[in-house]
Amino acid sequence: MSNNSIPQVSISSGATITVLGLGHIGLPTALGLAELGWQVIGADDDARKVGLIRSGDPIFFEPGLSELLSKHLASGKFQPVEDVEAAVRKASIIFICVGTPQKPNGQADLAQVEAVARVVGRNLNGYKLIVEKSTVPAITAQWLRRTIVRYNGGKPLGTAGDSATGSPSAADLDFDIASNPEFLREGKAVEDFFHPDRIVCGVDSERARKILTDLYSPLGRPIVVTDTSTAELIKHAANAFLSTKISFINMVSDLCEKVGADVTAVTRGIGLDSRIGPQFLDAGIGYGGYCFPKDLRAFIHLAEEHGVNFSLLQEVERVNQRRVDIFIRKVHEALWTLRGKTLGILGLAFKPGTDDIREAVSLKIIQVLLEEGSQLRLYDPQAMAITQTVFPPSTAGITYCSSAYDAAKGAQALLLLTEWEEFRNLDLARVHDLMEVPIIVDGRNLFNPVAVRKAGFEYVSMGRDGSRASSGRTHALKPTA
Ligand code: UDX
Repeated sequence: MSNNSIPQVSISSGATITVLGLGHIGLPTALGLAELGWQVIGADDDARKVGLIRSGDPIFFEPGLSELLSKHLASGKFQPVEDVEAAVRKASIIFICVGTPQKPNGQADLAQVEAVARVVGRNLNGYKLIVEKSTVPAITAQWLRRTIVRYNGGKPLGTAGDSATGSPSAADLDFDIASNPEFLREGKAVEDFFHPDRIVCGVDSERARKILTDLYSPLGRPIVVTDTSTAELIKHAANAFLSTKISFINMVSDLCEKVGADVTAVTRGIGLDSRIGPQFLDAGIGYGGYCFPKDLRAFIHLAEEHGVNFSLLQEVERVNQRRVDIFIRKVHEALWTLRGKTLGILGLAFKPGTDDIREAVSLKIIQVLLEEGSQLRLYDPQAMAITQTVFPPSTAGITYCSSAYDAAKGAQALLLLTEWEEFRNLDLARVHDLMEVPIIVDGRNLFNPVAVRKAGFEYVSMGRDGSRASSGRTHALKPTA
């Protein structure tokens, strides 16, 4: 990231920002703020994680992150620490980026957020702006406020302190809460930090509005200012809407197969309508990852809690869950029986550009294929090591491979589960020679059907097998004069 492209912020106040939680959101946020010129402390109570980050290892793969980490460890603008309490005391602005996993009932588990509020409450030593970045249900900001007051001696705001007993003064209890939800996509987190479509600032005071809008104005992107509850809802609504688009196009894809249409052409045909837009309309094996499945369930739960019947979202989830069965059925249709068959698996990460396999559809597919008795040859450009924590190399039926070509060796089919760019550019003739039976089942519509069939493969994809002659592309006709 060149310094020329990012306007530097004035830090004449010498304010320090503390980012709590150094995961997929916290680390890119901390380093993005450092790049903007702030003095940033990144705090995490996981000493091992902090040690690795301090040594220059960002722990997870994210394009551009490693470079930013090295740069700002060297510049001294980013300081990873495990002493969370001290980090809170030093900060004027605190970004909460801790995890909000889901409980078995789908509800968001806010225990880590509450723990942070307690630490902040105990360490308020002057005005602080506390900013929620983690995805949380509406009215979490109100709970944060209440918890901070409670753990600061239970004194309501504005109560005079007692210097003799050391209890906090009114100034000590002076703080604001803001909700600034994060829309960073994994694999594009650094790019998204500097070039977001919009920045949502949920604030309940003029002071918080000014601090946050000043902080983000150097990015020159649209800033939507709301109250905190609205900002919290915007994040859930955005992820729920995007998940809905994916499930919608997946149903259209199934219908395309029945009537002999091509879903990629349908996507183009509807996506060019500016009211619809082309993004998040790629049909396939469905959405995974740490955010969409979890956030959708939390949103459904929030609606239920408030007596709102948001059954549309329940259907979005059901459609997504059925994608695994639909894909497995395609594998059966291509191969008949699966017991003892050797299958090359291309892609393990929940999407390209990351090594993250949380809620990856690939894992569910692998599990079903193992239960069917298939021999699987796995390959992913980034997610091999992490997948071995789920399926150890000793797992019967699993072989980890060194490349896509290695995965193809002796296979009776190749199953494409993540659309990595390197798979698009495979030497198909070489792959063909390596396989025992040249079949590709493409769960992400990565390949051009004409090119793959021309290379001698039997090719099955998603929502475009009804129209076998199709190239998979639409042909834009020049408008007649
Ligand atoms: C998402 C949101 O996009 C981001 O704004 C939020 O902050 C975090 O959650 P992320 O989980 O990184 O980001 O991935 P995203 O790119 O949104 O993809 C999510 C899943 O949907 C992936 O499994 C992807 O393969 C799938 N997907 C996406 C589709 O199946 N079809 C599409 O058209 C787009």
